[in-house]
Amino acid sequence: MPALGYSRYQSVTTALYDKKGLSHYLLRVPTSRYILPLVNFVRDKQIVEVGIGTGYYSKFFQKNRNKITGVDVNPHLCPPEFSVVEASASDFARHITTPHDMIVSFWMTEYLNREELFSFLRESRSVLAQQSGAIFFTIIGYGIGGWFYTTLAWKLRKVVKYMYSEVEVLEMMDELGYSDIRVFPVRLWLGIPFAYVFEARIA
Ligand SMILES: C[S@@+](CC[C@H](N)C(=O)[O-])C[C@H]1O[C@@H](n2cnc3c(N)ncnc32)[C@H](O)[C@@H]1O
Repeated sequence: MPALGYSRYQSVTTALYDKKGLSHYLLRVPTSRYILPLVNFVRDKQIVEVGIGTGYYSKFFQKNRNKITGVDVNPHLCPPEFSVVEASASDFARHITTPHDMIVSFWMTEYLNREELFSFLRESRSVLAQQSGAIFFTIIGYGIGGWFYTTLAWKLRKVVKYMYSEVEVLEMMDELGYSDIRVFPVRLWLGIPFAYVFEARIA
């Protein structure tokens, strides 16, 4: 049976998850060179991070005086400085009871099939509609980096991960009424294509 989402991490602690292994140097370091400049200007916002994990990016947001609410199917990974709601990305809006002006999600959507990805975007839209807010999220793209990442997850761990084309995601976002959509490529070392950051707004 394939592992459902991130259920294999139910027995992983925050400290173990944050240990700097090979994936930190192969994936986290090169991809953060693209992601951090895109989000570093965000200040004084109320942010929901969906798939907060151990809060790697939320720590950067917090330094810039943003307030963070986490959403995760594995809330035990999240350190105590963040409040976190146990919910799925495809059904979380009803848990966000106060207004938030930004949704972010990094390295989570690869656990979502097409229907779940659409639901995540729909749920995010409904949270953002209260405040005319913005969204940033990553998508693993088709290409050599994405292919290795998803194939190794399956071969080594029997975890299903999904890749999407830029066009597929843009079509979903158009259908849901997102505007000002921008797409930024994210590459690994040697410029290997890996993922995209999508940014958009709800007017
Ligand atoms: C690879 S980790 C990334 C964590 C964090 N965003 C980061 O960049 O360090 C993926 C996170 O997404 C969460 N996750 C996976 N599927 C999810 C889902 N369907 N709904 C909510 N969270 C999910 C996992 O529990 C995990 O914390």
